[in-house]
Amino acid sequence: MMRMDFNRTVLVTGGSGFIGSHLVCSLVHRHPDWRIINLDVLDYCCSRRSLQSVEDRTNYTFIRGDVCNSRLLNHIFSTQNVDVVFHLAAKTHVESSFESPSSFQRVNIEGTRVLLSAAHQAPHRLHRFIYVSTDEVYGAGLGQGFDERSPLRPNNPYSATKAAAEIQVTAYWDRYKFPVIITRSNNIYGPRQFTEKVIPRFLSLLQSNRKCTIQGTLPKSRHFLFVDDAVAAFLLLLEKGIVGEIYNVGTSCEIPIMHLAQELVKMVKNVADSEVDDWLEFVPDRPRVDLRYPISCEKLQQLGWKAQVTWTEGLRHTVKWYHDNPDFWSDTSEEQRPITAELCCSPDRTDALYD
Ligand SMILES: NC(=O)c1ccc[n+]([C@@H]2O[C@H](COP(=O)([O-])OP(=O)(O)OC[C@H]3O[C@@H](n4cnc5c(N)ncnc54)[C@H](O)[C@@H]3O)[C@@H](O)[C@H]2O)c1
Repeated sequence: MMRMDFNRTVLVTGGSGFIGSHLVCSLVHRHPDWRIINLDVLDYCCSRRSLQSVEDRTNYTFIRGDVCNSRLLNHIFSTQNVDVVFHLAAKTHVESSFESPSSFQRVNIEGTRVLLSAAHQAPHRLHRFIYVSTDEVYGAGLGQGFDERSPLRPNNPYSATKAAAEIQVTAYWDRYKFPVIITRSNNIYGPRQFTEKVIPRFLSLLQSNRKCTIQGTLPKSRHFLFVDDAVAAFLLLLEKGIVGEIYNVGTSCEIPIMHLAQELVKMVKNVADSEVDDWLEFVPDRPRVDLRYPISCEKLQQLGWKAQVTWTEGLRHTVKWYHDNPDFWSDTSEEQRPITAELCCSPDRTDALYD
């Protein structure tokens, strides 16, 4: 298909990452008449294998590049007639954000500014700019949960940069009526998530006969959303979301981290109930960890979205995938792996793994 034959051009930033790769695959397969451009720097958390199923598709283009590179971004927007942007490129590991906040500020805040500026100045008028943010911008919560009007009280450098990026996105709506939509999602899980995040982390520990590490004594929990349901929400918002609005994306499936570890032990180790806790190890807490992030998703549900994948199905599918793909990240090249990535992946690392 010739370039001019495509009905829509969609730019996904961070399309080689965990959520981005599921979004790109879904877009490429479902919409052969749309051209999907993936702009990604290929950070340590990516494997080229994530996008193998679309690599040869004529409606897929990969650009290896940095979202902070204004020359590159201006070139893309002045030549590619981009209609839609899904902005996912980000530094995402909370613990690393304490160790190197400036790299988070550069990519998450400056990168968003560069992208907004290039998209806004493009000769071809953009139809939608969808910024994928996180429930962590609300900070910790109790009770019924935050709705989209709740104040932002981020508690770590990662969520602070996501909140700062959101404010820039909102400013483009307020100032220019630039057609933005912001999403704030729960913890998303599923196949191809890098091993620094809690579910793959516990699985990789168990697969190497190590114990799951539980931080501190305070009961922490997270709401988990299966990645296909998150992608479905983003695609629905592209069609039905109202510009200038923010949408929480999540489930009522709140799982205490301790239960998550116990459930994974049962599934992977197949041990008697009395032996499950032998596979847990208690380690010191990091300071100021948010205990839970409850959100209300009524606004998104009113557009017709509902999570389709149950926790049991999603977890079973995810555990099977990690079992079948133990060497998935072995193609990640050395130059893609900064020191922090090595630390995150090391079985000796026991801290900060819930986000
Ligand atoms: N995973 C979750 O639970 C979750 C929940 C809510 C929101 N989010 C948001 O969704 C987005 C994607 O998250 P993920 O879990 O897939 O993360 P990820 O770390 O797997 O992917 C991030 C992607 O961004 C790319 N990237 C990093 N720096 C870049 C740069 N300078 N230029 C271009 N690309 C760059 C990386 O190479 C990677 O492909 C992020 O914006 C994150 O804040 C994630």
